[in-house]
Amino acid sequence: TPAVAACLALGYLLGSIPFGLILTKLAGLGDVRAIGSGNIGATNVLRTGRKGLAAATLVGDALKGTAAVLIAAQVGEAAMLAAGLGAFLGHLFPVWLGFKGGKGVATFIGVLLGLAPLAVLAFAAIWLGLAFALRYSSLAALAASAVTPAVLWAMGRPDAALLFLILGLLLWWKHAPNIRRLLDGTEGRIGQKG
Ligand code: G3P
Repeated sequence: TPAVAACLALGYLLGSIPFGLILTKLAGLGDVRAIGSGNIGATNVLRTGRKGLAAATLVGDALKGTAAVLIAAQVGEAAMLAAGLGAFLGHLFPVWLGFKGGKGVATFIGVLLGLAPLAVLAFAAIWLGLAFALRYSSLAALAASAVTPAVLWAMGRPDAALLFLILGLLLWWKHAPNIRRLLDGTEGRIGQKG
């Protein structure tokens, strides 16, 4: 329906706001894409040494996804799923950055918060456990995102499970360089400067 399509578009617009890029520029740090992994996400903002900016990037990139889903709640369930998909696609493929966006971890969490807040607890437990134990942000996100569709399915949310299966596949695809580095032991650890 037109209302669902409008929510997809609204999600895309919100999702395409690159908080990491904007916040680091405002802080006078130059272009975050020139350091570390070259990514615009919170993990790479942390490589500037500015923990507060990294936290703000995580929150901004997450809450834009949550906001899209909650606005679409006025329209209905299908619109919420469409808005979440739109926000994730906007973050990964922002038209403003020549479609070269982020890897999707924060926005994945934010969309999940809007659609199934309890499932965020499972994501956070897996992410935090692996991140503290192994200190690889990417590996923690890859594992947590892979488990999320199963968690949603177990919660009796098959539609959301399907959406997050798609988001998870896109997230894994965007992490291909990280997966390669993890396999040959050259992935940067959390807190290492880029
Ligand atoms: O948020 C993306 C994270 O999983 C990896 O980021 O900068 O190490 O490629 P990065």
